[in-house]
Amino acid sequence: MLRLQGVRKRYGGGASPIVEVLHGIDLTLADGAFAALVGPSGSGKSTLLNLIGLLETPSEGEIWLAGQPAHAASEAHRTAWRNQYLGFIFQFHHLLGAFSAEENVLMPVLAAGRGRIHADDRRRARLLLERTGLAAHAHKRPVQLSGGQQQRVAIVRALMNRPRLVLADEPTGNLDSRTAQEVFALLRELNRDEGTAFLIVTHDAGLAARCDRQVYLQDGRLVRDSARVA
Ligand SMILES: Nc1ncnc2c1ncn2[C@@H]1O[C@H](COP(=O)(O)OP(=O)(O)O)[C@@H](O)[C@H]1O
Ligand SMILES: [Mg+2]
Repeated sequence: MLRLQGVRKRYGGGASPIVEVLHGIDLTLADGAFAALVGPSGSGKSTLLNLIGLLETPSEGEIWLAGQPAHAASEAHRTAWRNQYLGFIFQFHHLLGAFSAEENVLMPVLAAGRGRIHADDRRRARLLLERTGLAAHAHKRPVQLSGGQQQRVAIVRALMNRPRLVLADEPTGNLDSRTAQEVFALLRELNRDEGTAFLIVTHDAGLAARCDRQVYLQDGRLVRDSARVA
């Protein structure tokens, strides 16, 4: 479903020196995978996630998402594929404060350009909110929710359009350990129930160990991958 080949990322140029942050990443991810991306701060985890998320383009190499050559595509195609195939969860929830939990969950429907929200979309939003224990909070605004509830709303939002792959950058990084466990358990449940693949950046070795696969990044290189036989 996802294949990276020889991906390099460089920043700078012009007045500032050119710095290469990723040095030739080869990575494949199967449908339904549940993988952790682990590595020290500054090793390039977020950069790699942004490339896979089609938010940035590689300086060299290929990124194939759902059979599409994302590295060689126009911005319009990349945006369309992003909305069609991907969901995003960040450390901070980035919910829109003026809207209810349910309205936030429905945002990706509008972003995907389906014009308006249909009854089916509302049903799915309500079902996901129910399944994540948020039914009673659907009408509340983000400030009326706890940190764990806010992050669960963000997770439901990421799942709304039935993405093939959800990219999560430190999704439990801002939560106390007990809430982090609950949120992680929810990701696992959605992975099983919806067949959605997850690639999760985490600093928490315990949570990483509970993923099916661990990919280790160091100084812009994949130094270890539990799915790859040495
Ligand atoms: N837009 C950018 N311009 C220049 N350097 C960047 C940019 N984004 C990230 N970097 C650098 O790339 C390296 C990897 O960063 P990042 O991907 O955020 O690492 P991680 O998420 O593992 O902490 C760091 O040295 C960072 O300073
Ligand atoms: Mg990061």
